[in-house]
Amino acid sequence: MWRRADPDRRALLAAALAAPALARAAEVDPRQYIEPGGEVDVSGLARGDWLIAVVDDQPVFVRRRTPAEVAAARATPMAALRDPARDEDRAPGKGEWLTVSGRCTHAGCTVMGGLGPYHGWMCLCHGSIYDTSGRVRSGPAPRNLAVVPHRGPAGRRLTLAAA
Ligand code: FES
Repeated sequence: MWRRADPDRRALLAAALAAPALARAAEVDPRQYIEPGGEVDVSGLARGDWLIAVVDDQPVFVRRRTPAEVAAARATPMAALRDPARDEDRAPGKGEWLTVSGRCTHAGCTVMGGLGPYHGWMCLCHGSIYDTSGRVRSGPAPRNLAVVPHRGPAGRRLTLAAA
């Protein structure tokens, strides 16, 4: 819960409000409610955009990454990561499509996309920062955002597993 006397949280909020100028990606059609194993309409996503699917009341980010985002994620040395994981394993193939849980691995707050120095995700509760592969880079979160397996896309549709 936000408290007026908590300067760290005020600083985070100020950073988040200022962050749109820093964000390179954009959230579009921000909520699609689907059943586990259901399909998401990704026809509106350009490279660099994402949407949020809600599966069993859990937010799942469906992100269509740019070649630069993929290249940066794949060039990151494992030694720089708290929870080492290859981007190639999190977003197989060319890596254009990444689907991850929107629950911060610290205490379960919903993260925000496109914020922070890596333009990946940021959690405003206590300041955890994730890169464009959803890997934790700083803050109290102990683990990466969980990958939610997907199939596709095929045409306009991408199929998600339950979060
Ligand atoms: Fe995200 Fe604490 S819940 S940093």
